Amino acid sequence: MLILSTWSFGQRANRAAWETLSPDGSSLDAVEIACRDAESDLSNHTVGKGGRPDASGQVSLDSSIMLSPAKRGAVAYVRRFEHPISIARAVMERTAHVLLAGDGAEQFALAQGFKATDLLTDEARGQWEEWRATGEMQPAHPAPIRNIEEKPPGSHDTIGVLALDSHGVLAGACSTSGMAYKLPGRVGDSPIIGHALYVDPRVGAAVATGHGELVMSVCGAFLAVEALRRGANPTDAAVEVLKRIQQTQPLTDNDQVGLIVLRPEGIWGAASLREGFKVAVKDSNRDELMAPRHVL
Ligand code: GLY
Repeated sequence: MLILSTWSFGQRANRAAWETLSPDGSSLDAVEIACRDAESDLSNHTVGKGGRPDASGQVSLDSSIMLSPAKRGAVAYVRRFEHPISIARAVMERTAHVLLAGDGAEQFALAQGFKATDLLTDEARGQWEEWRATGEMQPAHPAPIRNIEEKPPGSHDTIGVLALDSHGVLAGACSTSGMAYKLPGRVGDSPIIGHALYVDPRVGAAVATGHGELVMSVCGAFLAVEALRRGANPTDAAVEVLKRIQQTQPLTDNDQVGLIVLRPEGIWGAASLREGFKVAVKDSNRDELMAPRHVL
């Protein structure tokens, strides 16, 4: 049994999920619980309620969850529900679709019994008002996220979670409020299967965090799993994605992408474009926050 999550807030999320995962729970339940923890943490300004809004002052959330190419669900541009990860799971389990967005996703959520709520906290509204007063345009590139662990935290980032249960079942999930002060309507990599998240139970799983546009432009998580399929180890699979990003797109010093890659037998690796990315690791013997094995 193993659960891996992005960033330091992943440690708290892993702990929240562990009782479900251990001793013989489901990895699918565990990744959902981990994301729900981050979505409800009001001090986390990059995921769920309390996330930073778009340029118009509206919070919009993206999320996906995956067991296999046949079992996956996602929601994008959700503006009134605290737990997009659970709506994504409902899309996976109760519809014939992969992705619901915007008003349709919210109508589906209401019909499924999810309760609507206001996602913009006073703190996030205050920060948005300060940003608006600067007169800056929407960022072409996000504010620095490479040192998200420092205070004040950077512009965004996703919680990405991979888990392996005692039955050998792999699952993955991710959830985000996206880039702070983004153009209204912007959707990032998190709800697009194969971009921030991909799981093939025979081969492995990958989850990405960071500047979503960079990840989306190379189908990052899918590329990592395809590298595993060709025989790469998990760290090399993550590095292959980062090198592809580096080779294909102009980067600023502030652009960060981090990936976690996990094989079905529990071997995992991680890599990031810059220093600062952290992986929260929990299994029966340890509960740690680690730097990735490779920084480009
Ligand atoms: N990686 C999250 C986003 O860019 O929306």
